[in-house]
Amino acid sequence: MKILITGANGQLGKSIQLLSSLYSKFDFIFTDVDQLDITKLEEVNEFFNLHKPDFCINAAAYTQVDKAEDEVELNNLINITGPKNLAIASHQHHSKLIHISSEYVYNNDSKDIMNEDSPTSPKGVYAQSKLKGEIEVQNETGQYYIIRTSWLYSEFGNNFVKTMLRLGNQLNSIRVVDDQIGSPTYATDLAEAILQIITLNNDKFGLYNYSNEGFISWYDFSVEIFKNRNINCKIIPIPSVDYPTKAPRPFNSRMSKEKISNNLGIEIPKWKSSLEDCLKKIH
Ligand SMILES: NC(=O)c1ccc[n+]([C@@H]2O[C@H](COP(=O)([O-])OP(=O)(O)OC[C@H]3O[C@@H](n4cnc5c(N)ncnc54)[C@H](OP(=O)(O)O)[C@@H]3O)[C@@H](O)[C@H]2O)c1
Repeated sequence: MKILITGANGQLGKSIQLLSSLYSKFDFIFTDVDQLDITKLEEVNEFFNLHKPDFCINAAAYTQVDKAEDEVELNNLINITGPKNLAIASHQHHSKLIHISSEYVYNNDSKDIMNEDSPTSPKGVYAQSKLKGEIEVQNETGQYYIIRTSWLYSEFGNNFVKTMLRLGNQLNSIRVVDDQIGSPTYATDLAEAILQIITLNNDKFGLYNYSNEGFISWYDFSVEIFKNRNINCKIIPIPSVDYPTKAPRPFNSRMSKEKISNNLGIEIPKWKSSLEDCLKKIH
């Protein structure tokens, strides 16, 4: 099977690249914006025409949540028009589309653990664009898996884990919010889940939540990062009101992963063991 990956230089894209050698039965085509700009329908159509992928994994996105408030047009082009274009081409060429979304789409004011049927009510430009991107995919093709993930981190790019390691080695104390609760997701685990879905190829299309297991706060996460690395920097827990951001952040990012486990048999590692795996790869 031919697997096209967009946004292959991002955290998820690089994690898929790393695992690809274990999936030698697949023919991978890795692209980032220089090879395939997902915002250009003609380019996308030509690419699908030429390569005829069986699956497309859309790991491309605009992910700077605060900057999106100022770069609305660019954000929407990448997060709404991009997935729409991929869905149009996927439908035309009978390819299956795996699109990555975010737990930001949910109504995060709710106190419940969110499953795929829970109400959506995204707040902020990025969050709203992720929901609109999902809707475009659903409108344009039936053969899709949309995976909503949260708190993505990896040994690649910029993310919370790498920021904590940097600050922890520079400062004597840092303040970290303790009233936003969710689950980190190690990008390698998400990449593995995606490749398992393709291997399974069972056509159980639809919306799926995926993150690592266990619910924690950003404060809890930073405590574990420092503990693992013996970093002697004091962490002061603070409420979100003391750490204002341009785009709102959800207080509740807790997702149920029952559907992806039951329908697709995906086994989900616990956040702490995945963090250990990732930290072994960051020097
Ligand atoms: N990061 C998180 O905490 C988080 C949480 C929940 C969900 N997600 C979702 O998870 C997915 C993967 O996130 P990530 O952290 O791996 O993203 P990332 O590291 O920001 O990677 C995105 C990649 O897409 C590329 N890209 C941008 N515009 C493009 C275009 N027009 N055509 C093709 N490629 C383009 C980017 O290139 P440039 O770098 O050159 O722009 C980058 O290489 C995204 O859908 C994101 O919304 C992320």
